[in-house]
Amino acid sequence: KKILVTAGGTQEPIDPVRFIGNRSSGKQGIAIATAARDRGAEVLLITANLEQKVSGVNTLTGNSAVEMKTAVDQNLEWSDCLIMTAAVADYSPEKVSGSKLKKESIGQEQLLVLTQNADILASASKVLRENGKISVGFAAETTTDLDQAATVKLKSKGCSILVANDVSNGKVFGEESTSVLIITELGDSVRANGSKLEVAHKLLDVISDML
Ligand code: CTP
Repeated sequence: KKILVTAGGTQEPIDPVRFIGNRSSGKQGIAIATAARDRGAEVLLITANLEQKVSGVNTLTGNSAVEMKTAVDQNLEWSDCLIMTAAVADYSPEKVSGSKLKKESIGQEQLLVLTQNADILASASKVLRENGKISVGFAAETTTDLDQAATVKLKSKGCSILVANDVSNGKVFGEESTSVLIITELGDSVRANGSKLEVAHKLLDVISDML
């Protein structure tokens, strides 16, 4: 099967030296690409601001939300399954300054106006579904009711599978192990704990059942 995986965190430029970013380490996406390759899938990895590569896996970059959307959309037709682990910024600065912003010209306060980015997973899920293919979303939540948050996000994104994890108090980011809840549109749910590679294989079990 052809598996499209996104990993890392997008950066939304403010000026040539500054950006809005997030805490995603990209480790779960790298683990999924590695596990899928080891199970014989053809894997295409789209990374946002990651140095790491996976041998035997073709890699494209999508460092900002706009670049990530272009790279994903261009490869949707190719893929049997999209796995969106990338943390994509929901908002980007409306204006990107071509030169470095200087304190002297700003003064005490600077208002940064943000505009909403397109939801890559939501639009891709629609296209994939129409073609009998599947999509997987990830949700990093700080809620006490992870099941409820996962169900709501599965529906709002229109994806086939949603993987939710609790990131309250900075948990998970950059760590080697994780604990997630995997739910499917068919109403199945499974918990997976362990290394990010073990969790990747558990997710790929669920995906291969669905495919
Ligand atoms: N995602 C995406 N495009 C965006 C934002 C998010 O494709 N512009 C994807 C992420 O890759 C992830 C999933 O959507 O797989 C969930 O992202 P999340 O930020 O949790 O969802 P949001 O809809 O942005 O909800 P929230 O208000 O909780 O941030």
